[in-house]
Amino acid sequence: MSKIVLVTGASRGIGLEAAKHFSKEGYKVIGTSRGEFNLGELIGDDSAISVQLDLMSRESIKNLFADLKSEDLLPSVLVNNAGITKDQLFLRMKDEDWDDVIETNLNGLFRVTKAFIKPMVKNKFGRIINISSVAGLMGNSGQVNYSSSKSAMVGFSRSLAKELGSRNITSNVVAPGFIETDMTTFLNDDEKVEVSKNIPMKRFGSVQDVAKCIVFLASDEANYITGQTISVDGGLFMY
Ligand SMILES: NC(=O)c1ccc[n+]([C@@H]2O[C@H](COP(=O)([O-])OP(=O)(O)OC[C@H]3O[C@@H](n4cnc5c(N)ncnc54)[C@H](OP(=O)(O)O)[C@@H]3O)[C@@H](O)[C@H]2O)c1
Repeated sequence: MSKIVLVTGASRGIGLEAAKHFSKEGYKVIGTSRGEFNLGELIGDDSAISVQLDLMSRESIKNLFADLKSEDLLPSVLVNNAGITKDQLFLRMKDEDWDDVIETNLNGLFRVTKAFIKPMVKNKFGRIINISSVAGLMGNSGQVNYSSSKSAMVGFSRSLAKELGSRNITSNVVAPGFIETDMTTFLNDDEKVEVSKNIPMKRFGSVQDVAKCIVFLASDEANYITGQTISVDGGLFMY
């Protein structure tokens, strides 16, 4: 099976680290981001491909599919990682805060997966890895929009697992807790200490912690794991 992975939101944070780990495992890595970036330089792999793509744009997803198809580079592994937050208490949440988050995190997931799933069905092999959040599992004040989008990823992944398991396509969720990335820089050091008190491991996670789980789910070791949600959160949320 071709070792080609598509990682959305690969310009920084968890997506960038996942891209680096996939490259080390011998994958051809295709990474996306809205802005310009050079994935090859960032991960030290000249063969990596950087693509400018906005999950809000159906057109750009269609174009990416067409380009990759024409170059025989359709991915066997898809990591739906790109995501945004627009936090606000529900009573003050504006329509556009809701729309943008659902549009990016949930509708983006639908669009990208829909675009790339058919070749996986045809090849009878595929690995879909969706990056949700602890907020989608336990809820979080100020994040009704974000946690709704991240909860929905779980239902999406489980249903897809049921539909496509017989085609040897697995569909799993990784649910990170508090991870040191741009997304958590809004917290100052004192707030981080406060948050860490509720985490059994008493610290934020690293992007490496999450990337290792993502790469595991794509590996042969995870061939019989599907429909699951794996938390990488230092024990913050336990079922
Ligand atoms: N960090 C955490 O503590 C944490 C915890 C739980 C879950 N997560 C989830 O893990 C994933 C990665 O988080 P992160 O912390 O690594 O985030 P990050 O550092 O903010 O990076 C987000 C990535 O997504 C891309 N992106 C954002 N909007 C996009 C859009 N509309 N179209 C295409 N790409 C877009 C960004 O690139 P551009 O801005 O250039 O487009 C960037 O590459 C997200 O889904 C997030 O919800 C993170």
